[in-house]
Amino acid sequence: MQSEHRKPVPNEFMPDDYFARLNPSTIFNNDQPLEIDLGCGDGSFLIAMAQQFPERNFLGVERLLGRVKKVCRKAERENLDNCKVLRLESKYVIEWLFPENSIDRLHLLCPDPWPKARHHKNRLVQQDFLEALYKALKPGGEFCFKTDHPEYFEWVEEEMNTFQKFEQLEWPEDAFFYPKTDFQLQWEAEGKVVERARFQKPE
Ligand SMILES: C[S@@+](CC[C@H](N)C(=O)[O-])C[C@H]1O[C@@H](n2cnc3c(N)ncnc32)[C@H](O)[C@@H]1O
Repeated sequence: MQSEHRKPVPNEFMPDDYFARLNPSTIFNNDQPLEIDLGCGDGSFLIAMAQQFPERNFLGVERLLGRVKKVCRKAERENLDNCKVLRLESKYVIEWLFPENSIDRLHLLCPDPWPKARHHKNRLVQQDFLEALYKALKPGGEFCFKTDHPEYFEWVEEEMNTFQKFEQLEWPEDAFFYPKTDFQLQWEAEGKVVERARFQKPE
Protein backbone atom coordinates (compact mmCIF):
# COMPACT_ATOMS: atom_id res chain seq x y z
CA MET A 1 0.00 0.00 0.00
CA GLN A 2 1.58 3.22 -1.17
CA SER A 3 1.30 6.28 1.04
CA GLU A 4 0.45 9.67 -0.45
CA HIS A 5 3.11 12.28 -1.23
CA ARG A 6 1.00 15.39 -1.37
CA LYS A 7 -0.60 17.78 1.07
CA PRO A 8 -4.16 16.90 2.12
CA VAL A 9 -6.92 19.18 0.87
CA PRO A 10 -9.29 20.58 3.53
CA ASN A 11 -11.55 17.83 4.95
CA GLU A 12 -9.25 15.12 3.64
CA PHE A 13 -7.84 12.67 6.17
CA MET A 14 -4.35 11.32 5.60
CA PRO A 15 -2.96 8.99 8.27
CA ASP A 16 0.51 9.88 9.60
CA ASP A 17 1.51 6.27 9.04
CA TYR A 18 -0.23 4.14 6.42
CA PHE A 19 1.33 0.99 7.84
CA ALA A 20 0.23 1.24 11.46
CA ARG A 21 -3.15 0.94 13.14
CA LEU A 22 -4.52 4.40 13.56
CA ASN A 23 -6.02 5.96 16.62
CA PRO A 24 -9.57 6.77 15.39
CA SER A 25 -9.89 9.77 17.70
CA THR A 26 -7.11 11.47 15.70
CA ILE A 27 -9.30 11.61 12.58
CA PHE A 28 -11.72 14.21 13.95
CA ASN A 29 -9.96 14.99 17.21
CA ASN A 30 -12.97 13.88 19.22
CA ASP A 31 -14.66 10.65 20.28
CA GLN A 32 -18.04 10.99 18.56
CA PRO A 33 -19.45 7.77 17.06
CA LEU A 34 -17.75 6.89 13.79
CA GLU A 35 -19.48 5.84 10.57
CA ILE A 36 -17.60 4.83 7.44
CA ASP A 37 -18.87 4.93 3.85
CA LEU A 38 -16.75 2.56 1.74
CA GLY A 39 -16.52 3.69 -1.89
CA CYS A 40 -18.31 6.96 -1.17
CA GLY A 41 -18.37 8.03 -4.85
CA ASP A 42 -19.78 11.55 -5.27
CA GLY A 43 -20.31 11.78 -1.50
CA SER A 44 -23.96 12.81 -1.61
CA PHE A 45 -24.89 10.18 1.00
CA LEU A 46 -21.89 11.04 3.19
CA ILE A 47 -22.58 14.79 3.13
CA ALA A 48 -26.31 14.40 3.81
CA MET A 49 -25.59 12.09 6.76
CA ALA A 50 -23.00 14.47 8.20
CA GLN A 51 -25.46 17.36 7.92
CA GLN A 52 -28.23 15.37 9.56
CA PHE A 53 -26.11 14.00 12.43
CA PRO A 54 -23.59 16.60 13.64
CA GLU A 55 -23.06 14.50 16.79
CA ARG A 56 -21.56 11.64 14.70
CA ASN A 57 -18.46 11.53 12.51
CA PHE A 58 -18.49 10.37 8.89
CA LEU A 59 -15.44 9.15 7.03
CA GLY A 60 -15.73 8.42 3.32
CA VAL A 61 -13.25 6.03 1.74
CA GLU A 62 -12.65 6.41 -1.97
CA ARG A 63 -9.78 5.42 -4.22
CA LEU A 64 -10.30 7.96 -7.03
CA LEU A 65 -8.48 11.21 -6.28
CA GLY A 66 -10.86 13.36 -8.36
CA ARG A 67 -13.84 12.11 -6.37
CA VAL A 68 -12.00 12.53 -3.07
CA LYS A 69 -11.24 16.17 -3.86
CA LYS A 70 -14.80 16.86 -5.01
CA VAL A 71 -16.36 15.42 -1.84
CA CYS A 72 -13.84 17.29 0.32
CA ARG A 73 -14.75 20.55 -1.43
CA LYS A 74 -18.45 19.93 -0.74
CA ALA A 75 -17.74 19.16 2.93
CA GLU A 76 -15.65 22.31 3.24
CA ARG A 77 -18.30 24.45 1.53
CA GLU A 78 -20.92 23.12 3.94
CA ASN A 79 -18.61 23.74 6.93
CA LEU A 80 -18.81 20.12 8.01
CA ASP A 81 -16.29 19.40 10.76
CA ASN A 82 -17.69 15.89 11.11
CA CYS A 83 -17.06 14.78 7.52
CA LYS A 84 -13.74 13.74 5.99
CA VAL A 85 -12.53 11.55 3.14
CA LEU A 86 -9.65 9.09 3.07
CA ARG A 87 -8.13 8.16 -0.27
CA LEU A 88 -7.32 4.50 0.08
CA GLU A 89 -8.41 1.00 -0.87
CA SER A 90 -11.52 -0.12 1.04
CA LYS A 91 -10.39 -3.55 2.15
CA TYR A 92 -7.01 -2.29 3.28
CA VAL A 93 -8.68 0.36 5.43
CA ILE A 94 -10.81 -2.17 7.30
CA GLU A 95 -8.19 -4.89 7.48
CA TRP A 96 -5.10 -2.88 8.39
CA LEU A 97 -5.90 0.67 9.44
CA PHE A 98 -8.71 0.45 11.95
CA PRO A 99 -8.14 -1.18 15.32
CA GLU A 100 -10.57 -3.63 16.88
CA ASN A 101 -13.88 -2.29 18.20
CA SER A 102 -13.49 1.15 16.65
CA ILE A 103 -16.29 1.60 14.06
CA ASP A 104 -19.94 2.19 14.95
CA ARG A 105 -21.49 1.71 11.52
CA LEU A 106 -20.15 0.76 8.12
CA HIS A 107 -21.98 1.53 4.88
CA LEU A 108 -21.28 -0.34 1.65
CA LEU A 109 -23.66 1.12 -0.90
CA CYS A 110 -23.96 0.05 -4.51
CA PRO A 111 -20.39 -1.32 -4.70
CA ASP A 112 -19.03 -2.68 -7.96
CA PRO A 113 -20.82 -6.07 -8.35
CA TRP A 114 -18.14 -7.73 -10.49
CA PRO A 115 -20.80 -9.70 -12.40
CA LYS A 116 -18.55 -12.07 -14.40
CA ALA A 117 -17.78 -15.37 -12.66
CA ARG A 118 -14.06 -14.98 -13.22
CA HIS A 119 -14.20 -11.60 -11.43
CA HIS A 120 -16.15 -12.77 -8.36
CA LYS A 121 -12.86 -12.97 -6.50
CA ASN A 122 -12.79 -9.14 -6.64
CA ARG A 123 -16.03 -8.77 -4.70
CA LEU A 124 -15.41 -7.02 -1.43
CA VAL A 125 -17.79 -9.10 0.67
CA GLN A 126 -15.97 -12.38 1.27
CA GLN A 127 -14.98 -14.25 4.41
CA ASP A 128 -11.67 -12.45 4.98
CA PHE A 129 -13.31 -9.04 4.64
CA LEU A 130 -16.11 -10.09 6.98
CA GLU A 131 -13.58 -11.26 9.56
CA ALA A 132 -11.79 -7.90 9.38
CA LEU A 133 -15.09 -6.01 9.53
CA TYR A 134 -16.27 -8.05 12.50
CA LYS A 135 -13.12 -7.14 14.39
CA ALA A 136 -13.20 -3.45 13.46
CA LEU A 137 -16.87 -2.90 14.40
CA LYS A 138 -17.73 -2.10 17.99
CA PRO A 139 -20.05 -4.56 19.76
CA GLY A 140 -23.52 -3.54 18.61
CA GLY A 141 -21.96 -1.96 15.50
CA GLU A 142 -23.78 -2.25 12.19
CA PHE A 143 -23.06 -3.09 8.57
CA CYS A 144 -25.48 -1.65 6.00
CA PHE A 145 -25.37 -2.97 2.44
CA LYS A 146 -27.25 -2.05 -0.72
CA THR A 147 -26.99 -3.28 -4.28
CA ASP A 148 -28.92 -3.15 -7.53
CA HIS A 149 -27.41 -6.49 -8.50
CA PRO A 150 -29.65 -9.43 -7.40
CA GLU A 151 -26.89 -12.00 -7.73
CA TYR A 152 -24.46 -9.97 -5.62
CA PHE A 153 -27.23 -9.54 -3.04
CA GLU A 154 -27.65 -13.33 -2.83
CA TRP A 155 -23.88 -13.70 -2.68
CA VAL A 156 -23.72 -11.36 0.33
CA GLU A 157 -26.53 -13.22 2.11
CA GLU A 158 -24.68 -16.49 1.55
CA GLU A 159 -21.36 -15.04 2.72
CA MET A 160 -23.08 -13.70 5.84
CA ASN A 161 -24.73 -17.08 6.51
CA THR A 162 -21.40 -18.83 6.15
CA PHE A 163 -19.71 -16.31 8.45
CA GLN A 164 -22.45 -16.71 11.08
CA LYS A 165 -21.20 -14.16 13.63
CA PHE A 166 -23.43 -11.26 12.52
CA GLU A 167 -27.13 -10.98 13.27
CA GLN A 168 -29.43 -9.72 10.53
CA LEU A 169 -31.62 -6.76 11.52
CA GLU A 170 -34.92 -5.65 10.06
CA TRP A 171 -34.61 -2.70 7.69
CA PRO A 172 -38.08 -1.52 6.64
CA GLU A 173 -38.25 1.34 4.14
CA ASP A 174 -37.89 4.71 5.91
CA ALA A 175 -37.15 3.05 9.28
CA PHE A 176 -34.62 5.82 9.89
CA PHE A 177 -32.94 8.66 8.03
CA TYR A 178 -30.95 7.05 5.24
CA PRO A 179 -30.64 9.07 2.03
CA LYS A 180 -30.36 7.35 -1.33
CA THR A 181 -26.94 7.46 -2.93
CA ASP A 182 -26.19 8.85 -6.35
CA PHE A 183 -25.97 5.33 -7.79
CA GLN A 184 -29.21 4.21 -6.14
CA LEU A 185 -31.03 7.16 -7.74
CA GLN A 186 -29.49 6.33 -11.11
CA TRP A 187 -30.41 2.64 -10.93
CA GLU A 188 -33.95 3.35 -9.79
CA ALA A 189 -34.39 5.87 -12.61
CA GLU A 190 -33.55 2.98 -14.95
CA GLY A 191 -36.25 0.86 -13.30
CA LYS A 192 -33.87 -1.38 -11.34
CA VAL A 193 -34.62 -2.51 -7.79
CA VAL A 194 -32.06 -1.70 -5.12
CA GLU A 195 -32.07 -4.26 -2.32
CA ARG A 196 -30.78 -3.62 1.18
CA ALA A 197 -29.62 -5.64 4.17
CA ARG A 198 -28.50 -4.65 7.64
CA PHE A 199 -26.40 -6.69 10.02
CA GLN A 200 -25.17 -6.24 13.58
CA LYS A 201 -22.17 -7.43 15.54
CA PRO A 202 -23.78 -8.76 18.73
CA GLU A 203 -23.27 -6.68 21.91
C1 LIG B 1 -20.44 1.99 -8.08
S1 LIG B 1 -19.74 3.34 -7.24
C2 LIG B 1 -20.87 3.66 -5.89
C3 LIG B 1 -20.63 4.99 -5.24
C4 LIG B 1 -21.58 5.33 -4.08
N1 LIG B 1 -21.43 4.41 -2.98
C5 LIG B 1 -23.00 5.38 -4.55
O1 LIG B 1 -23.76 4.46 -4.20
O2 LIG B 1 -23.36 6.35 -5.24
C6 LIG B 1 -18.36 2.58 -6.40
C7 LIG B 1 -17.39 3.58 -5.83
O3 LIG B 1 -16.43 2.87 -5.07
C8 LIG B 1 -15.13 3.26 -5.45
N2 LIG B 1 -14.29 2.08 -5.27
C9 LIG B 1 -14.37 0.92 -5.97
N3 LIG B 1 -13.50 0.02 -5.50
C10 LIG B 1 -12.87 0.62 -4.46
C11 LIG B 1 -11.86 0.20 -3.56
N4 LIG B 1 -11.37 -1.04 -3.64
N5 LIG B 1 -11.43 1.06 -2.62
C12 LIG B 1 -11.95 2.32 -2.53
N6 LIG B 1 -12.91 2.77 -3.36
C13 LIG B 1 -13.37 1.94 -4.31
C14 LIG B 1 -15.25 3.70 -6.89
O4 LIG B 1 -14.22 4.59 -7.28
C15 LIG B 1 -16.62 4.35 -6.89
O5 LIG B 1 -16.56 5.72 -6.53
